[in-house]
Amino acid sequence: MLRDPRFKRIDVSPITGALGADIRGVDLAASPDEETFREVKKALDIYHVVAVRDQQLNPHNYQAMAARFGPFSGNPVHAPMEGLEHIIQFIREPSDTGKVIGEDWHMDLAWMVKPPGITMLYGEVIPPVGGDTCFTSLVHAYRALSPGMRAMLHGRMGLHSGKGVFAINAMQSRLGLRKDAANAEETEVEHPLICAHPVTGERYVFVSSVLRSISGLTEDESRPIIKYLMDVATRPEFHCRIRWEPGTLTMWDNPCVLHTALNDYTGFRRVTYRTTIEGWAPVAAPDINEAANTPLAALHQLNTLELAA
Ligand SMILES: [Fe+2]
Repeated sequence: MLRDPRFKRIDVSPITGALGADIRGVDLAASPDEETFREVKKALDIYHVVAVRDQQLNPHNYQAMAARFGPFSGNPVHAPMEGLEHIIQFIREPSDTGKVIGEDWHMDLAWMVKPPGITMLYGEVIPPVGGDTCFTSLVHAYRALSPGMRAMLHGRMGLHSGKGVFAINAMQSRLGLRKDAANAEETEVEHPLICAHPVTGERYVFVSSVLRSISGLTEDESRPIIKYLMDVATRPEFHCRIRWEPGTLTMWDNPCVLHTALNDYTGFRRVTYRTTIEGWAPVAAPDINEAANTPLAALHQLNTLELAA
């Protein structure tokens, strides 16, 4: 297993060549020191998805731990656990059938003015097989576009709509919804299509399942372009897949990835807890030049050098 040598306090192992890393050797509930905590955040910036293994969280110390990453984003749809304003419990019982929550490539709350910057999901009860979560990189999606396509999209806005969000969540019989959750249906927001990450400067394509149209184009004209962008964004070579274990805390850089829950564990129980950390209003990339080496690309170069030596 490849270990990223840039990390001294924690063990960081890339999952695929595109994104994602397993992290071991840290107990987040035990308030790790600042240097260790900074390494966890750095791993998230570099890999965009991290699965922190062997954690011992309960909803209370989970909320306290998550607050260290920044203010909570709020969630206009899902009702939190009683007494825990920022923790949502997802339960799937063995007898449950139908869609699982989050079953389709999406970005969490993309239709908010500031979509969450980090989503965290903690696995308490995990099926012995199945129930994985797949992620794909919008940074790689940007890098896969031709200069002509980048130039066409640069400077344009995408209209993201909450229409249908309430209905999808209302189908989940075990999921509590906020009293005003239906307001999501009327929510629309414009985000730049080509964005720059405010921390890393990486360019990414802001495409999501709720992107309805592109500025300057009709809906009919927008539709095939959005479909094309989703096709590029969900190419298998841009994926990683998290296999859960009880005690896994998965965190993702929500605006830079899409994710989908897999519905393949009927007959098993699954209990997870989600919270979201505030993000930023997406920032338009200042130009269409390819970003300098991404941190992940730099790691690959380092490994190439090491292997060649
Ligand atoms: Fe999600």
